[in-house]
Parts: sequence; C-alpha cells; structure tokens
Amino acid sequence: MSVSDEFDAWAADGRDKGMEERHWHTAKHVLSRMPVEAGDTVLDLGTGSGYPLRALADTKDIGRGYGLDGAPEMARNAREYTREAGHDNIGFVVGEFGSLPFEENSIDHVVTMEAFYYSSDPHETLREVARVLRPGGTLHCAVNYYEENVHSHEWQENIAIDMTRWDAGEYRSAFREAGLAVATQDNIADGEIEIPPAARFPTDDWESREAMVERYRTYGTLLTVGVA
Ligand SMILES: C[S@@+](CC[C@H](N)C(=O)[O-])C[C@H]1O[C@@H](n2cnc3c(N)ncnc32)[C@H](O)[C@@H]1O
Repeated sequence: MSVSDEFDAWAADGRDKGMEERHWHTAKHVLSRMPVEAGDTVLDLGTGSGYPLRALADTKDIGRGYGLDGAPEMARNAREYTREAGHDNIGFVVGEFGSLPFEENSIDHVVTMEAFYYSSDPHETLREVARVLRPGGTLHCAVNYYEENVHSHEWQENIAIDMTRWDAGEYRSAFREAGLAVATQDNIADGEIEIPPAARFPTDDWESREAMVERYRTYGTLLTVGVA
C-alpha cells in the first residue's frame, strides 16, 4: 500500500485534524525549541494538516514554509487550512521523503512530527535532509513509535505501510551516518493527556495506570536533533 492510499483516507475523514490535536501536546515543545530566526525557510516532512508551519509563522515569523506530504488529500487540506489562517508564505507540495524537491543548502531548518518512521528508506531520507539543509541548519525529528516505547509496538498491526522501529541509539547512529551531528536527544512527556485515578483501571485501552503513565509521561515523544 502506498502513502497516498493510506493517508488520503485519513485526510478525507478528518483524521488530519485529530492527529493535530493529539500531536500538538508535544509538537508545541518541539517547535519552541527550534532555533528558527525571523525570515528563515522551514521544511516540514509529513506535514499532515500543516499545523507546525502555521505555528512557526505565528510565533517565529518564518520567511517561508514548505510542507511536504505524500498524500495529495493531506496537502490539499493543509493548503485550505493555511489559506483560511491567512498565511501566504507557506506552501504545500506532494512528494516523497526519499527525493526532496529542493536545491542543496536551500533550507534553514527541517521538522518532522510523527512521520519519519513511515519512510520506506529512512537512511536515504536522512541523506536527503542533510543535502537540502544549509550548514548549521537543524533537523528536529519527533517520533512516538520507537523501540523503547513498548506501548507503541502494536501500531504496526493497524497500518499497511511498513514502519521503522529504531531505538534511540539507532536514531543517533543513522543521523551521524547521514552527516548530521547529533545536538540533543531526549523524551518530551505528554503532560496533557488525562490519566484517570488507579481505581478506574483497567480501561478500554489500558490494563493499568502504570502502563498509561509510562506511555505518556515517561516515554512520550523521542526527539532527536541533528545539525548539518
Ligand atoms: C501520522 S501523520 C503525521 C502528520 C503531522 N506531522 C502531525 O503531526 O499530525 C504522517 C504523515 O506523513 C505522511 N507521510 C508518510 N510517509 C511519507 C513519505 N514516505 N513521504 C511523504 N509523506 C509521507 C503521511 O501522508 C501523513 O500525512
């Protein structure tokens, strides 16, 4: 199954906005850490509804934003939401992580939220990111599907695209192999998901309160930051 076969359906039934709501809890921390200067050009890989670029335009005065997504319906929705928000410096392209339609040294910063693990060749994707980034530019790569987060492992069963499940060390090694120095790597907790008192467990989704706390507060989202 292709990215567009899977994710066009998500865009059509409103799951683009659902993801935005869930991911915003941690995405806002990722975006606030990006060393973006006014006027910078930012690329968002697997942009979904396109919310990261709108947030960076609102808070950091980016010069230009490009959202890339392999699902045409995602890009179409993102364009519409961005037009409604009045940002005419943000554009959306349909494309593949493995072949970024940008010149080398043309992008100041790249961000990717909960999308990198869908890459069909993650090493190639990292080489492409290193190619398009200007020297000193950063990649902020945020994933909640990764080896240490045992609560995420079952997600592959619900999706027809092969997902990459690296551990934190594998992310760091792959960044370095692609020519990206690893500046930082840490876990961003989701402090906003409400966790019921112990007496309410098990719930439909969680066997125990401990497991839910581990998923959201301990593991949260793994953020690896690379510098070109
Ligand atoms: C889980 S969604 C995340 C969307 C958004 N970043 C967010 O935080 O809500 C992953 C997105 O990445 C896109 N995507 C997945 N694999 C891709 C690939 N190989 N090339 C381009 N886009 C891809 C999908 O179409 C989808 O919109």
